[in-house]
Amino acid sequence: MKKNLVLLGMMGAGKTSIGKIVAKKQCLEFIDTDSNIEKSCKMEISKIFKEKGEKFFREEEEKEVLKTLKQNNCVIALGGGAFLNKTVRNAILKNDISVWLDVDLKILNKRVKWNKKRPLLYEDGNKEKINKLYMERKKIYKLANHRINCENLNKEKVADKIITYYEKY
Ligand code: S3P
Repeated sequence: MKKNLVLLGMMGAGKTSIGKIVAKKQCLEFIDTDSNIEKSCKMEISKIFKEKGEKFFREEEEKEVLKTLKQNNCVIALGGGAFLNKTVRNAILKNDISVWLDVDLKILNKRVKWNKKRPLLYEDGNKEKINKLYMERKKIYKLANHRINCENLNKEKVADKIITYYEKY
C-alpha cells in the first residue's frame, strides 16, 4: 500500500496535467477532486459558483476531498483553494505526501487570465486578483511536505521531481 500523493497550488499550476503524468508513471490511480465535485453536483464549477455561491462550493469541496483521502495509492489533484481548509489540510498533513507546485506569478497570469472556467478570477479577471490570492495563500501552501519551483521546468521534469520525492517514502 502506498500513501496518497496530493498536489496543491494555484490555479493554472498544472496540478491536473502533471498529476496524470505522475499517476501513469507510478501505476497509481489519478483523481481530480474538482471534476468529481462537478460530477456529484452535475454542474460545472463556474456554474456552482454562480448559482450556489462560493460557500456551497467550499462545503462540497471539503466533503469530496475528505472522501477521496480515505483511499490509498492515488495521485490527487486538489482545486487551488482546498488546502486552505484546515480540516482538509490537517488530514493531508497527517496521512499523505503533499507537494506544492509553485509557479511564478508572471507565468500564472499568462495561463489563467481570461479563462471562464476559473470563476474566482473571471469575476473581475485581473492581474491584481491572482497576485493577491497568491500572496495570501503561499504561507499556507508552504506547509506542504515539499515545494517544487516549477520555473523553467516542463511538465515531465516536474513530474520526475515529484516522483523522486515520492519514492523516498
Ligand atoms: C479555485 C481553484 C479551482 C476551483 C475553483 C476555486 C481556487 O481549481 O477549485 O475554481 O480557489 O483557487 P484549479 O486550481 O484546478 O483551477
